Amino acid sequence: MNVFSQKVPGIIEFPSIGSSAEGYISVAEYQKDIPFEIKRVYWTYFTPQNVIRGFHAHKELQQVIFAVSGKIVFKTEDGKGQVKVFTLDDPKVGLFIPPYVWREITFSHNAVLLCLASSEYTELDYIRKYEDFKKIVTHEE
Ligand code: TYD
Repeated sequence: MNVFSQKVPGIIEFPSIGSSAEGYISVAEYQKDIPFEIKRVYWTYFTPQNVIRGFHAHKELQQVIFAVSGKIVFKTEDGKGQVKVFTLDDPKVGLFIPPYVWREITFSHNAVLLCLASSEYTELDYIRKYEDFKKIVTHEE
């Protein structure tokens, strides 16, 4: 089944065009590779190795996230309480995160995270307290 139709996070491997002799290019195209319209792209960098970021879930936002450089580890918890750890350390590999997934993220010193997001930034879409997340997802089941 398609990763994007699931309500849980999942890995997507994008094709890489090229060779070790000339280098590679990977592409994510709306509709062909990504079913949601990409309304926002953001990237993070220079995150100290001892910092854990994230600690939130989203209500509507869908994301595909890449470690275009370095290594990024996502610990996710979906609405059913299933905890998974995803290690992104390959630029052709993306992580799809649907709504209602709590995430905690660590980075190697050289990590650059690139995110393709389905909507513009709004703080209203965030669930920033773990207790609120648990209340909402338990109520939804
Ligand atoms: P946040 O999503 O909380 O990042 P992380 O989970 O990695 O810690 O965002 C950090 C700050 O950046 C927060 O003040 C909101 C702001 N921000 C924007 O203004 N626009 C954006 O698109 C994003 C992703 C964050």
